[in-house]
Amino acid sequence: MNSGRQIHIKSPAELKIMREAGRINAEVLATVKNLIQPGVSTADLNAAAEEVLKKHGCYSPFKGYSQPPYPASICTSINEELVHGIPSRKRILREGDIISVDSGTVYQGFVADSAFTVGVGEISPEAKNLLEITQGALAAAIDKMRVGNRTGDVSAAIQNYVESRGLHVTREYTSHGVGREMHEGPMVPNFGSAGTGLPLKPGMTIAIEPMVLIGTHATRVLRDQWTVVSADKSLTAHFEHSVAVTEGEPLILTVP
Ligand code: MF3
Ligand code: CO
Repeated sequence: MNSGRQIHIKSPAELKIMREAGRINAEVLATVKNLIQPGVSTADLNAAAEEVLKKHGCYSPFKGYSQPPYPASICTSINEELVHGIPSRKRILREGDIISVDSGTVYQGFVADSAFTVGVGEISPEAKNLLEITQGALAAAIDKMRVGNRTGDVSAAIQNYVESRGLHVTREYTSHGVGREMHEGPMVPNFGSAGTGLPLKPGMTIAIEPMVLIGTHATRVLRDQWTVVSADKSLTAHFEHSVAVTEGEPLILTVP
């Protein structure tokens, strides 16, 4: 369950750099969040993100990633789009939509990775509940990022939080180690059993990203080969923070 990727323990000096990367990434997300309103295109959001990155001499690890190369600096995923939605001039936000914005920043060779989901104007009670539960799952998972716990404790926290509230977690996409690479070990699924998996160690850094669906956990990928949607088109949400394990409290890297 490690996807073959290596786990890299970060030194205190490296964590300092990752914290700075996370601060810049938080500025990107805050800037984008401020622009979200009916009538704005997702390409506008991408352009604003790139401006902030450029100001700091940074760039996004998303752009050019994988095959076919991801074509933008952020992901913008609306309503039934769970993750990896591609910004477009043609995609205009409408009142009542919910949009996930996922942003990555490379600063001094280290990656920060974080996402939020927010409503556009007034949203339905069902959508509000989905956002609250997904954000709650992220908080519950972060609280497990302590020495003495294992990766399965983080996975189980997400699954239990979400499923006990009647919603569903993705099976195909996972939380992941983050550092010099956007995706390092350990791979941490959104589901699993407490007490299993790898022991958490100080200096481990993991991008924790609960991806939650209202209908079922089934997903499919659109013909653009990136956008992941719920198979039943039900609403979905996604929150993410890059978090370090320390000797004490979990250290959230991707906050101001
Ligand atoms: N937070 C996402 C992830 O960890 C962002 C990747 S978007 C991609 O996988 F386009 F770069 F793949
Ligand atoms: Co991620």
